[in-house]
Amino acid sequence: MEALVCRKLGDPTLGLEDNNSPIILSRNHPIPQLDSPTAVRVRIKATSLNFANYLQILGKYQEKYPLPFIPGSDFSGVVDAVGPKVSDFRVGDPVCSFAGLGTFAEFIVVDQSHLFRVPQGCDLVSAGALAVAFGTSHVGLVHRAQLTSGQVLLVLGAAGGVGLAAVQIGKACGAIVIAVARGDEKVQLLKSLGVDHVVDLGNENVTQSVKEFLQARKLKGIDVLYDPVGGKLTKESLRLLKWGTKILIIGFASGEIPVIPANIALVKNWTVHGLYWGSYKIHCPGVLEDSIKELLSLLARGLISIYISHSYRLSEANLAFSAIKDRKVIGKVMIVFDEKLPRSKL
Ligand SMILES: NC(=O)c1ccc[n+]([C@@H]2O[C@H](COP(=O)([O-])OP(=O)(O)OC[C@H]3O[C@@H](n4cnc5c(N)ncnc54)[C@H](OP(=O)(O)O)[C@@H]3O)[C@@H](O)[C@H]2O)c1
Repeated sequence: MEALVCRKLGDPTLGLEDNNSPIILSRNHPIPQLDSPTAVRVRIKATSLNFANYLQILGKYQEKYPLPFIPGSDFSGVVDAVGPKVSDFRVGDPVCSFAGLGTFAEFIVVDQSHLFRVPQGCDLVSAGALAVAFGTSHVGLVHRAQLTSGQVLLVLGAAGGVGLAAVQIGKACGAIVIAVARGDEKVQLLKSLGVDHVVDLGNENVTQSVKEFLQARKLKGIDVLYDPVGGKLTKESLRLLKWGTKILIIGFASGEIPVIPANIALVKNWTVHGLYWGSYKIHCPGVLEDSIKELLSLLARGLISIYISHSYRLSEANLAFSAIKDRKVIGKVMIVFDEKLPRSKL
């Protein structure tokens, strides 16, 4: 099978033919075999890139993997083979899930307990972008922050993978959503989703713009801060928080880990939630499973949508990583495996 192999750590945006590229396309990689009676092999249709996949190849992710490895986390596809004790799935079923590694390949083997059936009405490619981005935002906003209707939610990095998911889940919860993003294209998309206020970082000051909106709507401040960016933007956003705000620490796309002063957290009764979604698989698997089932149901009913700004073939994976590095992605960037898809649709 074809697989993308990370042979050394480094910048994955270098062309795959470049000798210095840390990733190479292996065209004769062994197809993984069923390794237990309840194992299922999936022929992957789509896998999405997450910022974490980029960090993993750079060697800057919180978890380190022995080399060589096949990167990639969330995927969708069709069941290709099942072990003798598999009762939940049959060959041909549309499925999706996520894994620690291994989805940038034509096939993956997982246990049936880790797979989700993609319901009728769900686009299979979209399902391949659901787990990490929407799962993180759903567990964060619904399970941890317990966001309720009428509360004010501030989303940083709002047009990125987790950000756009947070915006949609916030709207689905009935929250008043304020989104921060850079550039007209991102701003227009956020407005089209019914976001209550959008700050364009390219030409606006976040504190001033949000304060004006809050005053105009007679709102006291931010109830929930969703932060996948960190750095200077977090520092500025802290000025907008009120008594009792819940802060969701999601990530540091800016590359800078922010400081949240404990003395101010005390005085203002803030709650700081560090969230590592992937670790729920070990510590709280039921929450994660229920969340993905709920998200698949929302997707099938058209209550959330997956926005895919860039799609590539596996042989173009370096371009997919460039889209993330250059902050061009709106929603998700995908690797799609389907030779029959016309290039114009990618
Ligand atoms: N805690 C968890 O379990 C978990 C799960 C998933 C993701 N994450 C983390 O969340 C963060 C975002 O992930 P994602 O997949 O949503 O990434 P993404 O799609 O690339 O979005 C990141 C957003 O951050 C903004 N940004 C600000 N400064 C940036 C910079 N210097 N470089 C790149 N982007 C910058 C960009 O928005 P503008 O260009 O509009 O400013 C961009 O849209 C990452 O740190 C990731 O590791 C954490």
